[in-house]
Amino acid sequence: MSSQIDHLLDETRRFPPAEEFAAAAVAQPEVYERAGADREAFWGEQARELLHWKKPFTRVLDWSTPPFAKWFDDGELNVSYNCLDRHVEAGNGDRVAILWEGEPGDSRRITYAELTDEVKRVANVLSGFGVGVGDRVAIYLPMIPEAVAAMLAVARLGAVHSVVFGGFSADSLRSRIDDAGAKVVITADGGYRKGRVSALKPAVDQALGDRGDGVQQTVEHVLVVKRGENDVDWVEGRDVWWHDIVPAASVDHEAQAFPAENPLFILYTSGTTGKPKGILHTSGGYLTQAAYTHRNVFDLKPETDVFWCTADIGWITGHTYVTYGPLANGATQVLYEGTPDAPHPGRWWEVIEKYGVTIFYTAPTAIRSFMKIGRSVPRKFDLSSIRLLGSVGEPINPEAWMWYREVIGGGDTPIVDTWWQTETGAIMVSPLPGITATKPGSAQVPLPGIAIDVVDETGEEVGNGNGGLLVITEPWPSMLRGIWGDPERYKETYWEKFDKQGFYFAGDGARLDEDGDLWLLGRVDDVMNVSGHRLSTAEIESSLVAHEATAEAAVVGASDETTGQAVVAFVIIKESYLSEHDAAGLATQLRQWVGEQIGAIARPRDVYIVGELPKTRSGKIMRRLLRDVAEGREVGDTTTLADTAVMSIISAQVK
Ligand code: PRX
Repeated sequence: MSSQIDHLLDETRRFPPAEEFAAAAVAQPEVYERAGADREAFWGEQARELLHWKKPFTRVLDWSTPPFAKWFDDGELNVSYNCLDRHVEAGNGDRVAILWEGEPGDSRRITYAELTDEVKRVANVLSGFGVGVGDRVAIYLPMIPEAVAAMLAVARLGAVHSVVFGGFSADSLRSRIDDAGAKVVITADGGYRKGRVSALKPAVDQALGDRGDGVQQTVEHVLVVKRGENDVDWVEGRDVWWHDIVPAASVDHEAQAFPAENPLFILYTSGTTGKPKGILHTSGGYLTQAAYTHRNVFDLKPETDVFWCTADIGWITGHTYVTYGPLANGATQVLYEGTPDAPHPGRWWEVIEKYGVTIFYTAPTAIRSFMKIGRSVPRKFDLSSIRLLGSVGEPINPEAWMWYREVIGGGDTPIVDTWWQTETGAIMVSPLPGITATKPGSAQVPLPGIAIDVVDETGEEVGNGNGGLLVITEPWPSMLRGIWGDPERYKETYWEKFDKQGFYFAGDGARLDEDGDLWLLGRVDDVMNVSGHRLSTAEIESSLVAHEATAEAAVVGASDETTGQAVVAFVIIKESYLSEHDAAGLATQLRQWVGEQIGAIARPRDVYIVGELPKTRSGKIMRRLLRDVAEGREVGDTTTLADTAVMSIISAQVK
């Protein structure tokens, strides 16, 4: 990796903002000074300016019991009111909130007034189900407007949503429902993906079905949106069609204010163990930073811009830059249901042309897959409305960055490469488009009000020109407040890596160049990043060993040209199975198995059936060596292996 990074750091291209862009930009250079002079006062100002507080706060930050932060904690607000009613009350009810495009080409245009009414109805329905402050509601939906409405209806009641990505399996859904103790599930019969309806309701039925494990089932109601024409099984008394109950519900619902630290959502993400962590976010601080970053990083002019973030609401990017940031700012945005290449490879560009998208936010993996298809596809569409591009989820290589700027951005569009995490809740590191001279491949600078550093293993600053671990050195408004039900794991995972109090360990390697700009180098723990999605090696390993044929398994993230990293598994099969099955068939079975257990995104690209795994004398698997094999490199230093011959056997087997 280090030669690759040295090469990156030789990058000399600089793209300062055009004068006109800079002059009209939302964020002006003095913002860094203002935030630098008094961080807390700065965030207090943002919270007051960007949000409506039913009861104003008097205290910005309470950091008296780190790492448990409280922001604006004596203030009260309603998150849903902030995203909806107040825009209507301000006379913007006719402004379009959502320009929805279904994969088959059907579309809906929903104004702020209409969305507000819909959310009020859903809130009344959920209240009728007995959902109140603090109750958990699981949301398992495709990218349809009802998904956004569902999140906001839950928030409106002071309840807590847990959105589960539609690509996750019944098992993954079940463990998330159980962990959160959800009272209601909101789902659909299915959603369109690649030209057909991909079912969702059967997974819910399976997740809620009799499991014989003694775990108490908490779900009382399942609200089902009809999107496709799929037949569904029905549990009387539990299941209710959205179209039977929501349109008939009352449109009167007054939003009650809740304390700023009232939990807003739980979002599960992979960590270094087999069990996903429920990252907990609360209301006032989260919404402040969501709105602030959405407005400033994307230079949002709500009256004229058409924003499009391509992330699914099942990920943090969809929470913050589909639901909360854009709606808090009164923006008009595109919501697209399907895959980028269905029914044709220019689908995204067609959507941009159709709606005149001005700000476009996506992931490097998508950009690289379009690069592969070639520029002739986007060139068929008029993309001239685009004035700002964003990137998120993984490091963007300079080649992809340049292609994005030239082919999608027409050669003169600023790109913001935004670094953040499920845990940070909102963007932390990014250029500001009217201020920063951008560098292809670098996320560059912490936002105003955010304190970032790169340190060595002992927590000492490495200084410019050096690499180390990325840390956040001061609390921030949209920081996670904990891991659902596990305060110890929260402390250990994020706050106890260094002796220094108050250093948040992000799990990412980073390097500062001579200008002090940040270059992200990927995860330093056993977390993989596949197409911008986080996967845990431990979680996939435990799924593999749960298969009856598996004796042992090791998983690594191998670099992949398109997806950033790819899941590669090395599996030892039980003797009894090997004699009866051929290796190729077993590998296929295991790939499918992981897909069923966790979800299609976790399915290994390659499964190698091997006779041994490389272990140290203490029995630790040396994944570094397996990564060498998976990436087709010469195998590195094997001297610490218990049996040094093992790697040549594995290499031969893989070949
Ligand atoms: O490794 C970093 C990478 O994605 C991780 C966070 O993943 P997740 O919580 O799923 O959130 C993804 C969307 C915010 C980080 O620890 N990452 C995210 N953005 C970037 C990035 N790596 C490099 N550059 C980025 N812009």
